[in-house]
Amino acid sequence: MIIASNFKTNHTRKSTKEFVLKVENFVQQNNLDVEVRIYPTATALDKFDVNKTIKVGAQNFYPTYNGSFTGEVGFEQLEEFGVDTVLIGHSERRHVLKESNELTAQKYNFAKEQNLEIVYCVGEPKEVRVAGIDAVMAYVWEQFAGIDLDYKKLVVAYEPVWAIGTGLTASDDDIKEVLQRLREKITKPLLYGGSVKVDNVGDILKIQNCNGVLVGTASWEAEDFCKMIEAAKK
Ligand code: 13P
Repeated sequence: MIIASNFKTNHTRKSTKEFVLKVENFVQQNNLDVEVRIYPTATALDKFDVNKTIKVGAQNFYPTYNGSFTGEVGFEQLEEFGVDTVLIGHSERRHVLKESNELTAQKYNFAKEQNLEIVYCVGEPKEVRVAGIDAVMAYVWEQFAGIDLDYKKLVVAYEPVWAIGTGLTASDDDIKEVLQRLREKITKPLLYGGSVKVDNVGDILKIQNCNGVLVGTASWEAEDFCKMIEAAKK
């Protein structure tokens, strides 16, 4: 099971460090064998001295080692902190920051060349969801254009746009159906994301083909995130 926290644009360097240490202590004390991922802001990245099952990764990067890309972070800057897991294709990057499928695929190929674990996010907006499952899958497969599904360090996160940060979680049946369709072509771990909370994470993790969750809002308090990690153990 993979339990991941996406901080988005939240937490400071200080509170990120406290969060990581709390989670680390919790996982160690309870001897939990859960793959934990934490994606803080780029400014709060650091060489955290954490146990092997916890990885601190990057929410974003520009597909370059270094160079002249004002305001961007390249691999040289991530490497400094030993980052070896990244998010790519998150709905906020695609829809709010208008990142194209082409740039997303470029990032994917770059991260693959660097041998990074990639949590590749896909998901449909509301108007596609109301058109039914075939429309959802057509939309989602389009988001995989140029993406190597056989990459050994690929993790896929299905995050319906309308469920992100809205409090509206997809129904267990909807999640199950999409994961099942993804599973027909993808053998890698499949996560669900979108209004996952302490009180629904247990049920979501029981869904067939669900190998974990990617959580935003409800994971930003370390105590709550630890409860979710514990739920994965059960
Ligand atoms: P919320 O958990 O806040 O809905 O966000 C989900 C998400 O975008 C995780 O990447």
